[in-house]
Amino acid sequence: MNEKKRDGLLFLDTGNLEEIEKYLKLKLVDGVTTNPTIMKKSGVIGGFNAIKERSIAIANLINPLPLSVETSSPDGHKKELLEQAREFAGWAKNINVKITFTDQLGNSNTDVIRQLATEKIIVNATAMMSVSQCFLAAKSGARYVSIFLGRVANMGYDPIIETRRLRTLLDRIGLEAQIIAASSREALNVIQWFEAGAHIVTVTPNLLRPCIDHPYTRETVAMFDGDAEEWVKEWRKWRK
Ligand code: E4P
Repeated sequence: MNEKKRDGLLFLDTGNLEEIEKYLKLKLVDGVTTNPTIMKKSGVIGGFNAIKERSIAIANLINPLPLSVETSSPDGHKKELLEQAREFAGWAKNINVKITFTDQLGNSNTDVIRQLATEKIIVNATAMMSVSQCFLAAKSGARYVSIFLGRVANMGYDPIIETRRLRTLLDRIGLEAQIIAASSREALNVIQWFEAGAHIVTVTPNLLRPCIDHPYTRETVAMFDGDAEEWVKEWRKWRK
């Protein structure tokens, strides 16, 4: 990714190749995020080889845009996370690795994030629900801090206030991490979260669609096309 362009970026939250290709052609996509659940929902079944194959296919399709692939160690083995991260990052230059901020039991993975950052592996610290988690991940060297704003809202906190606080804090301290506003639930979230200060919003294809298509725009375009019909016919004859 162009390192100078750090803000206003739109990522697609999917493992579906057709959807990625569609929005890539429209030049709307700046990157792709996945996680094990997204991969499963996108039909990636068949174990490790299937994950590898799909990740490489997405990475090649969007190259040089970044793709996040998530590591997993159900019993919280840090060595396993590190090994997976090194393996995934080796699949393609534009793959960065997602590390959940803690394991299932709440043990911090900041040491894993720090180690990978030292090895120049780009980390997307993920599954974060608070400003404090994102701050600690950023301080540990994560390039991306993914705050799950839809889930934050479900817990009763205001995602806009949390994003504003996080951006203010990162900017004041001068931490380089980019905020990924994740876990979008409504088309409305995209603009709301950018306005609040997210550098990046990751959105599912079904929420991107209503950001583009509007019934009143269709109606207006139909009016313009109707009134232009006569000269467009002539223009087409002239062009032949
Ligand atoms: C993206 O990076 C996240 O993994 C994703 O947005 C999480 O979405 P969910 O809260 O719907 O699981």
